Amino acid sequence: MAGKLKNIIEDIARDHLNSALTLRYDICTCSICKNDMLAFVLSRVPARYVTTEQGALHTIIQQHRLEHQAEIGRAIIEAIDIISKNPRHQLKEDKNKVFLLLLDKIREDRGLDFHHYHQDLLKRRVAIRLRAAGINTYSDYLLLLMKSSEEYDKLFETLCINVSEFFRDPEVWEVLKILVQNMIHQKKTDQNHFIRIWSAGCANGEEPYSIAIMLKEILLAETASLRIEITSTDVDKKCLKFAQKGVYLKSSLKNVPKELLNKYFTSEEDGYKIKDEIKQAVAFSYLDLTSADYIKSTDIVFCRNVFIYFDRNLQEQLLMKFSYALKPLGYLVMGKSETLIREAKEIFQEIDLNARLYRKK
Ligand SMILES: C[S@@+](CC[C@H](N)C(=O)[O-])C[C@H]1O[C@@H](n2cnc3c(N)ncnc32)[C@H](O)[C@@H]1O
Repeated sequence: MAGKLKNIIEDIARDHLNSALTLRYDICTCSICKNDMLAFVLSRVPARYVTTEQGALHTIIQQHRLEHQAEIGRAIIEAIDIISKNPRHQLKEDKNKVFLLLLDKIREDRGLDFHHYHQDLLKRRVAIRLRAAGINTYSDYLLLLMKSSEEYDKLFETLCINVSEFFRDPEVWEVLKILVQNMIHQKKTDQNHFIRIWSAGCANGEEPYSIAIMLKEILLAETASLRIEITSTDVDKKCLKFAQKGVYLKSSLKNVPKELLNKYFTSEEDGYKIKDEIKQAVAFSYLDLTSADYIKSTDIVFCRNVFIYFDRNLQEQLLMKFSYALKPLGYLVMGKSETLIREAKEIFQEIDLNARLYRKK
């Protein structure tokens, strides 16, 4: 028995259009606009009607998908461009304006100012929450934030991106080990028994605990005794709580040599717990790097994989802040994918580009 007539180009075009629109936070993707885009594509690509049973249909769609991919792709690009510029309905919101309102609201409600973060990166992250909540516009999302503190927490988690691991970029830690060894020798000579380190943007604590382990190992090898103070700060309160607990999954410990794992962690039901002797050296607290606060008289500031979120202006302010935070000739460590902006080269001297290690001039 013959099946129903079906234009398989429509199915193929719908699939392509949906994936092309997934990351388009910058245009309206409501159902009216989506339908208009699809209609536009179908007016450009000739229909292919088939009438067949289900089994064979899949193979035929696959053949046509390959055959018409480029043609459909071109029509979709054109459709998105034309329809997004001339939506049939009144545009519900001026996306950029409402996005700024959203940032204002976050600043007012939660005291965290994202205005000087890279806007494209923020929009991509907010788009994740919009999709998860099944919402199309920033205005509707603002309404949801008014009602739901849970959504606020999820938004922060998404915006703060607190991925980290112990001894992240192991080759950098080789350089740091030599730096700290030299620093300790110098402190011994100067009869200075104190080292203060600031881990700024410490996420779940992997970075400051790595620093503490490295220091402990060096001090043991050098039979030196030194008071260690590692101040670790972040704006994500959930992260700080996690860090204080100090229990980690194996995945974040992949760079920790087995002997250090056995020495400084205890295996527990829910993961590996950092031992108290390491914990004692690390203090966690809330500190917003966009505010005026900083930790004073530090020997080394670690601020790795945080600069990437900030615009140039904020990066400049932050580098000034770190220069105040550091003792003369103190060190700054940035993330592997970050570079020192030109203006800061007046204040910091490059020591090791590969390790993103700089010294205050
Ligand atoms: C990708 S993690 C970096 C963690 C660690 N430094 C590393 O390199 O593995 C970025 C951290 O920066 C924090 N952060 C973002 N904006 C911040 C701000 N204004 N003040 C302090 N921390 C911030 C986030 O909460 C997140 O924990």
